[in-house]
Amino acid sequence: MIFFKRVVCVQSWEAFSIMDFKNKTVAVIGLGNIGKTIARNLVKSGHSVILSARTLEHAQLLVKELGDLSSAEEVTQSIRDADIIVLAVWLKDIKEIIATNKELFVNKVVIDPSNPIKIDGSGNPQKIIGVNESSGEEIKRWLPASSKLIKALGTLAASLLSENAFSDPRNVLFYATSAQDVRLTAESLIQDIGYLPYYVGDITESIKLEVFGSLNGHVVNLDAANKLVKDSL
Ligand SMILES: NC(=O)c1ccc[n+]([C@@H]2O[C@H](COP(=O)([O-])OP(=O)(O)OC[C@H]3O[C@@H](n4cnc5c(N)ncnc54)[C@H](OP(=O)(O)O)[C@@H]3O)[C@@H](O)[C@H]2O)c1
Repeated sequence: MIFFKRVVCVQSWEAFSIMDFKNKTVAVIGLGNIGKTIARNLVKSGHSVILSARTLEHAQLLVKELGDLSSAEEVTQSIRDADIIVLAVWLKDIKEIIATNKELFVNKVVIDPSNPIKIDGSGNPQKIIGVNESSGEEIKRWLPASSKLIKALGTLAASLLSENAFSDPRNVLFYATSAQDVRLTAESLIQDIGYLPYYVGDITESIKLEVFGSLNGHVVNLDAANKLVKDSL
């Protein structure tokens, strides 16, 4: 099946086979605030998902809620089985998951919604890497060179991501990647979780998308997104 989709970054219409994305297997690793929201929205769009958390039992609980379009697997198995892996865990856990399964990430598309933060005793976020560093760039260094990393899905708090999905007109979600060949995959994924994709540049732009960055935390339509991006240059 062929349909025409708007690619925000180049402001043009391109032919795109929806089957390219619908046939891809997506795994969501980490089923806390953000992972659950992403998984729920994908299923709402009719996309199947493999779910993994620290334990198989935790993933099976969400399968009970999401039904037949979802399945539960151990982390290593879901990385093996999926084409697209959403790492919805904290940065230290991403590091551990990649280190343990590094060869399985060869040629995979990896989605990074993480923020390089910890929450301090007063409930405030504290950056855990250098002030000019981003978790997107850190993760790119940890992955095999052939992995296709996309910084996306972490620019809004989970509650906002849930409440503002599938709006009419749609709100924007920013993404960044250095892998030009997976931009349509990124855009299809973002559309399937209920948003309009907006490309902001290569992975070095990740810092703008993470907490404390100029493109983080904004629920915006396309006009407001254009203004935010212009102001962030
Ligand atoms: N919360 C938000 O609003 C929000 C917004 C944007 C971005 N983010 C980013 O998203 C990431 C996750 O945040 P969150 O709030 O969703 O965290 P969370 O609620 O604490 O959930 C973390 C999840 O990670 C799983 N996990 C931890 N280590 C794992 C491992 N080795 N293998 C498999 N699963 C593992 C945990 O599994 P168990 O439950 O089984 O222990 C849990 O389901 C962070 O990097 C955060 O910065 C969060």
